[in-house]
Amino acid sequence: MPSAVPQPVVARLTRVAIFLVVTVNSGPESDVAVRGLCADLSSLLRAVGFRDLEGRLSCVMGIGSNVWDRLFGAPRPKDLHPFQEIRGVHHAVSTPGDLLFHIRSTRMDMCFELAAQIMSRLGNVVTVIDEVHGFKYFDDRDLMGFVDGTENPVGEGAERATVVGEEDAPFAGGSYVIVQKYLHDLARWNAVPVEQQENIIGRHKLSDIEQLDAAKAPYAHNVLTTIVEDGDQLEIVRDNMPFGEFGKGEFGTYFIGYARSPHRIEQMLENMFVGRPPGNYDRLLDFSRAVTGALFFVPSASFLDDVEPELASKVPAAKSK
Ligand code: HEM
Repeated sequence: MPSAVPQPVVARLTRVAIFLVVTVNSGPESDVAVRGLCADLSSLLRAVGFRDLEGRLSCVMGIGSNVWDRLFGAPRPKDLHPFQEIRGVHHAVSTPGDLLFHIRSTRMDMCFELAAQIMSRLGNVVTVIDEVHGFKYFDDRDLMGFVDGTENPVGEGAERATVVGEEDAPFAGGSYVIVQKYLHDLARWNAVPVEQQENIIGRHKLSDIEQLDAAKAPYAHNVLTTIVEDGDQLEIVRDNMPFGEFGKGEFGTYFIGYARSPHRIEQMLENMFVGRPPGNYDRLLDFSRAVTGALFFVPSASFLDDVEPELASKVPAAKSK
């Protein structure tokens, strides 16, 4: 059997992105429309992407736990479950989300056009829960002023970190993704001396060089998000984006993390919100509040291409002659 082609989870990081989280309205017509889009997504992507190949348009579609069985029936990806809220020193909320579209390009107009095409297919059958238009700030920094994304695995390492293999053979080529929208209290953060900010992140701000391990605070972000199991570091691929709206006074970071298993991302969150050990939590959270949280499975592109508008088990059996 040829191996499944993954969706472009490990696409090269881009300067802009749209993050769209929707719920699917009840009713069979909704399910048919969503399944129809699954099968046609690659052709929509080709059509919009071909308008400027240098725009590097890509789209990853994720499916939430609550809607998986309804859309695709059995089997289901073995680690797919709703995002579990975490109540630690800080609160990681769990919010609704049946479908995620992570649309990336070097050009916002291309992201916008693909989102428009997707919504013209789904507009009547989904409810938009959250929509963020993100951009990279100067030097790939977040709004807190630190370069974000430096330690991401690349190439084969990125694939090893994100693509499901034999551990769940029917869903090989897929990935898991967790998204969280964080709002920053920038006035308070900017009042913190740079040296203390650097201790919170575990890197130097201007040069982006990592602090020496011996110099890192035990609560540094890069200490708490390092997970080692049986001597191996369990990595994830992030493509966080800053966003902001002056009218709402909202400024933040949209966190998106992909992995071949959700557990390693959940462990990082536990370390950040509860602390490792408990109480030794991530001080970033004193200045950043998570206002959304959702988990999705990203089936392979081959899986999406093969989706039929009617769910096989729901098609009435042909009459026997
Ligand atoms: C307010 C939200 C967040 C901000 C502003 C933020 C920012 C950063 C920055 C500036 C770095 C250092 C540079 C780099 O390697 O990218 C970093 C590293 C990292 N972050 Fe975050 N982050 C956020 C949330 C999260 C969350 C929720 C997770 C995981 C659940 C996470 C996981 C990681 C990991 C794995 C690293 C690399 C650590 C290493 O190997 O050195 N981050 N983040």
